Amino acid sequence: MAAAILCRPPRPAAGTRRDGAGTGTGDGGGRGAGAMAGARGALIALEGVDRAGKSTQGRRLVEALRAGGHRADLLRFPERTTEIGRLLGAYLAGEKDVEDHAVHLLFSANRWEHVPSMKEKLHQGVTLVVDRYAFSGVAFTSAKENFCVDWCKQPDIGLPKPDLILFLQLSPEEAAARGDFGSERYENSLFQEKVLKSFYHLMKDKTLNWKMIDASKSIEDLHREIKSIAEETMLEVQNKPLGELWK
Ligand SMILES: Nc1ncnc2c1ncn2[C@@H]1O[C@H](COP(=O)(O)OP(=O)(O)OP(=O)(O)O)[C@@H](O)[C@H]1O
Ligand SMILES: [Mg+2]
Repeated sequence: MAAAILCRPPRPAAGTRRDGAGTGTGDGGGRGAGAMAGARGALIALEGVDRAGKSTQGRRLVEALRAGGHRADLLRFPERTTEIGRLLGAYLAGEKDVEDHAVHLLFSANRWEHVPSMKEKLHQGVTLVVDRYAFSGVAFTSAKENFCVDWCKQPDIGLPKPDLILFLQLSPEEAAARGDFGSERYENSLFQEKVLKSFYHLMKDKTLNWKMIDASKSIEDLHREIKSIAEETMLEVQNKPLGELWK
């Protein structure tokens, strides 16, 4: 149980990459300078436990950015309008069973199928706010028996790397006070505790820009805080290449 998070004993803290394929590109590589003529948008992920306020804040942030004259779009994962997304919707509603490994790959595929349009928008200067991303994917599957974080990360390696990951922190008690757990799969407190542990494990990765947010504040206070961090990030990254996640 204690070792569930890791596939095997930690690797000897090597400086070498997993597959040795490091050709040294380190970023979106071939996207090329041409596509980067103007300022790019930022990729901002909202993560956190259930009912922390991700969707509320995602909507508010995009509205506020647009009102401030920025180009911004909201995306939520799973994105249920595609064929894969509909299958995931049925799975989450408990209407369909899918084997655990297979469903993990489908959640990842649901992100990958949006990558071309995400990249296009980002390079056109549109800031994307994503309500859950690969981190939720990894945290949820690795909270299941017999899954490890390393395996869970593989299919999402190379996704557009968020410039900012806002982790909305809320105690299980406060989350519970925001209403009963819904009827969707995974919505029970024991499982959520395991998910949280997996999130904390992922946050140890210092190559990612995690920002912890105290989600117990009012919607308005949180919004102001999130908007200010988001705007700062948008300025910081506008002339930087988009990265690749976990590469
Ligand atoms: N800061 C807040 N204070 C109090 N209630 C809040 C706050 N933010 C959101 N809520 C309420 O909590 C509930 C959950 O919010 P929301 O749907 O935004 O959370 P979520 O993180 O997207 O949840 P889920 O993981 O289930 O999608 C809603 O009823 C919302 O109105
Ligand atoms: Mg939500």
